[in-house]
Amino acid sequence: MASSENKTARTLADLGATQPAQISTLFLEARERFDSDSLSARDESSWKQFRDTWLGRKSGVLTQITDNWLKTATPELKRVVGAALNKLRAHVESQIEERRKAIESGAEESAAARERMDLSLPGVIRPLGSHHLIRQVFQQIEDIFFSIGFSVVEGPEIETPYYNFEALNIPEFHPVRDDMDTFYLDLPKGAPQPLLLRTHTSPMQIRTMEKRQPPVRVIVPGKVYRRDNPDATHSFIFHQVEGLAVDQDITFCDFTGTIEYFVKQFFGAGVKTRFRPSYFPFTEPSVEFDVSCIFCGGSGAAAGGGTCSKCKGSGWIELFGAGMVDPAVYGFVKYDAKKVSGFAFGMGIDRLAMLKYGIDDIQVFFQNDVRFLRQFP
Ligand code: FA5
Repeated sequence: MASSENKTARTLADLGATQPAQISTLFLEARERFDSDSLSARDESSWKQFRDTWLGRKSGVLTQITDNWLKTATPELKRVVGAALNKLRAHVESQIEERRKAIESGAEESAAARERMDLSLPGVIRPLGSHHLIRQVFQQIEDIFFSIGFSVVEGPEIETPYYNFEALNIPEFHPVRDDMDTFYLDLPKGAPQPLLLRTHTSPMQIRTMEKRQPPVRVIVPGKVYRRDNPDATHSFIFHQVEGLAVDQDITFCDFTGTIEYFVKQFFGAGVKTRFRPSYFPFTEPSVEFDVSCIFCGGSGAAAGGGTCSKCKGSGWIELFGAGMVDPAVYGFVKYDAKKVSGFAFGMGIDRLAMLKYGIDDIQVFFQNDVRFLRQFP
């Protein structure tokens, strides 16, 4: 037997419906089909589809019934078909409206349920992290140098030998290169030049002077790399802050004054300082800068007797290398060495942090053990 769906697409004559009772059956079937269709209208989009199936002007079921059953009905049946169609239409329209309302209020209800908040529930605890101690020390150093007119610049960690060595007056085969055992990058054959992980932040002296004319006053915080065997004071990756000040008439006094000001700000006024002669190819004269040992108070003696293991009994701890910029360096950046002068320094930040916070092993900075990190919120 043809389904009721097909029946609305066929005329009454085609269906052989000539009696009022057959008309009633046809309408009953159509209504059952409608009622079962209405169950599929569960949300807005399925409701729209359902509505168009039944009320669509061109090919909706009611339009089909009008065209195929009402218009083609014999004069005797027309009244019966018309009355049944009106009844069906009223049912269809009222039910479609009912479904719409039900869907709307259901959607609102579930949206309200989603948005309802239970203020008595404990919140989600999201623990706040903090800056790593090295980052905090960078910040402290930057603040001190900002306050005396320095600005911060940063540079690449992958460098060329030119910037890392040659332009700093360290030609190939210079013995100083042995002190900075270097990581070179594996490059494809035919690469235009070797590349390396910078062994210090000093290349940024050159890059800065290439870009700027004096007066220059910058500090350069950053990571550096050396093939050093790890121990309590050595790591193959560590941090430095470079400093460079170049202008007319900068003297050794400006240099020592700046460094002492920094150290007193950083460690406190009680710390004693000293300069020792040293050697760097890019500074002349060169110095090493020491502070009195914060572990033994400069006495060189351990609290429990014997010598202090941190300063090896000397009472002093080496902090960093520095000096007046060697005139040879100005030649690489096209500054007039007769007109300008300046100083530079390069601090090892990890060791600075160890001294300030009494940390006796540099490796803890890289292990990321939260029990250590939490001590420096
Ligand atoms: C230099 O790196 C020079 N560029 C410093 C400088 C800059 C001198 C400007 C003059 C003018 P040096 O190799 O001494 O110098 O390293 C500087 C500091 O880095 C050291 O004092 C030390 O604190 C730190 N350092 C060196 N090697 C390591 C290492 N393997 N692990 C941790 N810290 C290190």
